Amino acid sequence: MTPKVQIKVEKLTYQYGSGQPALKNISFEISKGESIAIIGQNGAGKTTLAKHFNGLHKPSFGKVYVDNSDTGTMKVSELARKVGFVFQNPDHQIFNDTVGKEVAFGLKNLGLPKQEIEERTATALEAVGLTDHCRAYPFNLSKGQRQRVALASVLAMKTETIVLDEPTTGQDFRESVQIMDMVRKLNECGHTIVFITHDMSLVARYARRVLVLCRGEILVDGDVRSVFAGPELLQKTYLCPPQITNLAQRLGRHSIPPDVLSVRELYELLLKARGEKIGCCS
Ligand SMILES: Nc1ncnc2c1ncn2[C@@H]1O[C@H](COP(=O)(O)OP(=O)(O)O)[C@@H](O)[C@H]1O
Ligand SMILES: [Mg+2]
Repeated sequence: MTPKVQIKVEKLTYQYGSGQPALKNISFEISKGESIAIIGQNGAGKTTLAKHFNGLHKPSFGKVYVDNSDTGTMKVSELARKVGFVFQNPDHQIFNDTVGKEVAFGLKNLGLPKQEIEERTATALEAVGLTDHCRAYPFNLSKGQRQRVALASVLAMKTETIVLDEPTTGQDFRESVQIMDMVRKLNECGHTIVFITHDMSLVARYARRVLVLCRGEILVDGDVRSVFAGPELLQKTYLCPPQITNLAQRLGRHSIPPDVLSVRELYELLLKARGEKIGCCS
C-alpha cells in the first residue's frame, strides 16, 4: 500500500517583497511517517519553506497541502493541531512565566483534561531533561535549555507532523543526541518528522531522506545514503558529507563503498576487507 501523503508542495514560489524569490517553483511530497532532513547553506530558503508547513507563510504562487487540505485556506490555529513547529530561535516561541505553564499552554488550548495535561507536561519535560526546572522562569535558563522548553511544548502536543528548525543549535553533542533520540522515538511511533540542520552527522544518523536546497531551488532530493555518496553535487551548496562518509570515500581503493554513514559500518567493512571476524565496536 502506498503511504499517505502528509505534505504536498506544488510549484511553490515565495517572495518577500521585491527582488529574487526565496523559493522558486519547487515541488515535492512528504509521506506520513517519513523522517526527512532539509539542508542547504544559509539563506537557501529552508526556514521559509518550513514556515509554509504550519501556515506562517502562504505561497506567493503554487500550493502547499497538509493532510490534503490547502494551507492557503486554513487558519494557523487549525494547522497547529496538525503540524508542531520548533523555531530556530526559542525566544520567538516562549512567553509564559514558568517552564511548566509554557509546555501546558498548547494542551490547555486543545481542551484536554487536567490530568492529561499534567501527564503530558511531565513526560515532555522529562524527555528534554528539564523536570527539575518545571517552576523556573524560562528566561532565566540558558539558550540551550530554552530551546528544549520550546521542543517540549511541541512534543507534548503530539501533532502528526513535527517540524524542527535547527533544533540542536547551541546544544552540546550529548544534548543534541538526547533531543534527536527523542525525535526518532516519535518517528518510530508514526509521527512525520521534518528537521532542518547544518550538522551532517545528525542527518546521517537520524534522517532517511534528505532534501538539499540551493538558492530557493531543490538541488537534490533522495535517500541519505545516495545523496552523501555523491559529494560533488553537495559541494555546489558548500556542504560536505559527514566526516565518516568522507573517510570511507578516501578509502575507496580499499574496496570501501562511498555511502558509509556510521563508524560501526566502516569498522565492519574494514574488518571484512581484511578477512577478520566482526567483534564489538561502540
Ligand atoms: N523576513 C524576511 N524579509 C525579507 N527577506 C527574508 C526574510 N526572511 C528571509 N529572507 C530572505 O529569504 C532567503 C531565504 O531565507 P531563509 O529561509 O531564512 O534561509 P535559511 O533558513 O535556509 O537560512 C534569504 O535570501 C533571506 O535573506
Ligand atoms: Mg533558517
